[in-house]
Amino acid sequence: MCGIIGYIGKREAFPFLLNGLAKLEYRGYDSAGVALLSDELCIQKEIGKLSEIQFEEEEGKIGIAHVRWATHGRVSKENAHPHFDCKNEIAIVHNGIIENHRELKAGLVKRGHVFTSDTDSEVVSHLIEEFSAEGCNFEDAVINALKLLEGSYTLLAIKSGENKIVGARKGSRSLTLGISEQAIFPASDVLAFLEWTNKVVYLKSEDVFVADDELGLCIYNLAEDRIVVRPIDTVKCDAEEVKKGEFDHLMLKEISEQDETILRALQQNEEIVQGICDKMRNAAGTFFIGCGSSYNACLTGSYLFSKAAKLHVNPVLASEFENYEHFLTDKTLVFAVSQSGETADVLDAANAAKRKGSRVVGIVNRDGSILARESDGQLFMNSGPEICVLSTKTYTSQVVLMEMLAYALAGKYEEGLKKIGSLYLDIYKLTSRSMREHLAKLAAILYDKRDIYLIGRGAQYATALEAALKIKEVSYIHAEAFAGGELKHGPLALIEDGVPCIVFVSNDNKSKILSNAEEIKSRGGYIIGVASEREEIFDYWIKVPEAEELNPIIQIIPMQVLAYQLAVYRGLDPDKPRNLAKSVTVT
Ligand code: F6R
Repeated sequence: MCGIIGYIGKREAFPFLLNGLAKLEYRGYDSAGVALLSDELCIQKEIGKLSEIQFEEEEGKIGIAHVRWATHGRVSKENAHPHFDCKNEIAIVHNGIIENHRELKAGLVKRGHVFTSDTDSEVVSHLIEEFSAEGCNFEDAVINALKLLEGSYTLLAIKSGENKIVGARKGSRSLTLGISEQAIFPASDVLAFLEWTNKVVYLKSEDVFVADDELGLCIYNLAEDRIVVRPIDTVKCDAEEVKKGEFDHLMLKEISEQDETILRALQQNEEIVQGICDKMRNAAGTFFIGCGSSYNACLTGSYLFSKAAKLHVNPVLASEFENYEHFLTDKTLVFAVSQSGETADVLDAANAAKRKGSRVVGIVNRDGSILARESDGQLFMNSGPEICVLSTKTYTSQVVLMEMLAYALAGKYEEGLKKIGSLYLDIYKLTSRSMREHLAKLAAILYDKRDIYLIGRGAQYATALEAALKIKEVSYIHAEAFAGGELKHGPLALIEDGVPCIVFVSNDNKSKILSNAEEIKSRGGYIIGVASEREEIFDYWIKVPEAEELNPIIQIIPMQVLAYQLAVYRGLDPDKPRNLAKSVTVT
């Protein structure tokens, strides 16, 4: 879940690498580093976010760079990338996991190599060094090293005296080459180079590329043991979309885009949607799998399908899916839901399903992502790039797609599109300045609380889970959601004077959820109601329109804003919460 970028071309590499790293920082911000090649190899690396690091501008038209989210080895300068060999002639950056690094390292150490980090990555530079010493040219040395690695990775390597970058991808990590007339930009994500080119080559698993300073490109596939040709595609998204614009933070910008992104999610080909519905009707078992917010969207979907379409689906956390794999057959339908299309747990689950002959439909935002390319069918969220680590607009787009499928299954496709589309103005109002101020006042009441509890029933239970996730990940306040009916089975013991509880009210469960709120209030709890009408029991009221089955789209929006306001009130960076990263490419 680190981010890597390289530059080889006609101009100085440094500014391109730094700009690219800034775009990739959502993938990790524990440390960053750059290696540039001119007469000799210069490496700089530091811990901290990019904004905290002062890199010196070095010369060189070839370079590689990295932002890290620590997996193997603590956050330290030594463990920051790039890593080098014993002679400081070879530099590599790496994303992923080298599973057999311990055995490889033990062998290298025995043969006299000196390691300077605790990472799994450093074995690669030493292996390349070893093969080079045996007389291999640079690319063969990299290929021979790759053949020894077990795991899933992307990496880039450069070497003193070699005017080229050699890189590779294996398994669930993506590596894309940006191609312009001036340069080649290998990167973990197209966002890193989108400002300069929208022409891309998507590398496949086990592809190794060699890019030289004449902008020659050769791709070799390790599994097929031959040179391969990969097409040049054009990326659709716009570099402007990834900037903050008038907003203080990307999180707020992305929250505010939802009036439009829900409409973009509705732009689907009806034939494809109806085809997917037919498959759902005929499947012997349908699973919806995802992680984090994407899982919460799956859970929301399960309530919608049950209620509106009388269809049972199984929402399962992708990381738990292996426990259900024995139910898979060639008649099973699996929806893999993932904004990034890169989440390793989701890709592993989707691959397991494919091995059993099940059909996999990807619900995905990034069109070049592995999930988008490797699933049998796709529904795109069309949310545009989401850079803030938290999912906001892509969560509502996922729910929109679930709602759309539910309407289509119930034979009400057109009606559903109209109803969802008509939320546009409500969503606009829920993200307006006055709503933001109203929620900032609530943040001022809640910012120093130890715990916040949330309750809902039916689809609002899934909304409560998602709201709790938003609050905890960005404000670091403990937030926990319960199904309203479960309070009396344990959680009520947590309630004492002043403990805040957010209650999601919907017309179809109003009396039951309000009586759950009463159970909390009578034990001293502070009740925050998310509802269309003010109730006497509320200490604080967040007014939302009653949208019936569409409440899951509406009610989460003020919660995203509240989470944002809590982070700002507590002096935290909402775009980069601690310990997290956007694309979780580790299992
Ligand atoms: C929460 C959040 C995460 C992601 C999860 C899955 O705000 O962003 O919980 O939802 O890591 O990511 P994707 O959807 O990319 O598979």
